[in-house]
Amino acid sequence: MKHLLSIESLNAAEILEIIDLAKRLKATRGMEASKPLAGECWGLLFSKSSTRTRVSFEVGIRELGGDALFLSSSEIQLGRGEPIEDTARVLGRMIHGAVIRTFKQSDIETFARLSGIPTINALTDEEHPCQILADLLTIEELRGSLDGLKVAFIGDADCNMGRSWIWAAARLGFELRLACPELYRPPAELIARAKAAGGTVTITENPEEAAHGADILYTDVWVSMGKEEEAEYRAAQFARYQINERVVAAAAPKAHVLHCLPAYRGKEITAEVFERHAGAIFQQAENRLHAQKAVMTLLKS
Ligand code: CP
Ligand code: NVA
Repeated sequence: MKHLLSIESLNAAEILEIIDLAKRLKATRGMEASKPLAGECWGLLFSKSSTRTRVSFEVGIRELGGDALFLSSSEIQLGRGEPIEDTARVLGRMIHGAVIRTFKQSDIETFARLSGIPTINALTDEEHPCQILADLLTIEELRGSLDGLKVAFIGDADCNMGRSWIWAAARLGFELRLACPELYRPPAELIARAKAAGGTVTITENPEEAAHGADILYTDVWVSMGKEEEAEYRAAQFARYQINERVVAAAAPKAHVLHCLPAYRGKEITAEVFERHAGAIFQQAENRLHAQKAVMTLLKS
């Protein structure tokens, strides 16, 4: 693995290897014998806000022996229009790895190609692979395995999280049900490609139908970063797509509720359901650190 650009670009063996290593790194945190990033400086180029991703990468890079440089796009020339092609060729000569949060997936792919350094997608409009890897680790911890998994994603199925879930289901062969308004379905072409790759993905406009018998209920914000102008319209469109007591009651008796965070109580999830499942949700957040340390370690091997 030279880069982590998407879940789509990984195969099942690579995903499982990351999860396995993440489990080992989590169990041995603070006792690591090897420092795979020793002597290296990694750059975090962020064009969108972040709490979990930024902190987990900064801490993870340091724990692996490296140094981290946070570069907000509003403070570097990229934010004033310097092309990504030039930014990539400059930074590739100075830093040893890049973690990028931006809008266009093609910008991350261009950066990876032209910089010549390991590049990690820390969220684009199309995918959020680091979050999915931490989620899969969490699900394995909660259930003991990923076998026979049924995941229901309720909300904006066409956002980065919905799309990354589609590719996780395709690569690992578990069942994914998406519940979303018609307008927020992922493109038919993407679903067809994921199905051709082996994914069992169904789409419904009924959240309870998607939740029926599911092991995991998953949601994300209704208004992803960059879509703020649509907030009012989206609130009306997504009003029915909330994880609440009714949806939880439709799921398997011991179903877990997960959320990538940040969470908006009373919108995509009720405060009561959120707090009842807060243990699993914050375990997910913690697992960002372990999963990303595994990714960086494998990129260096
Ligand atoms: N889940 C997630 O990526 O959180 P941040 O936006 O805080 O990084
Ligand atoms: N879909 C959300 C994920 C936040 C971690 C967004 O893009 O804002």
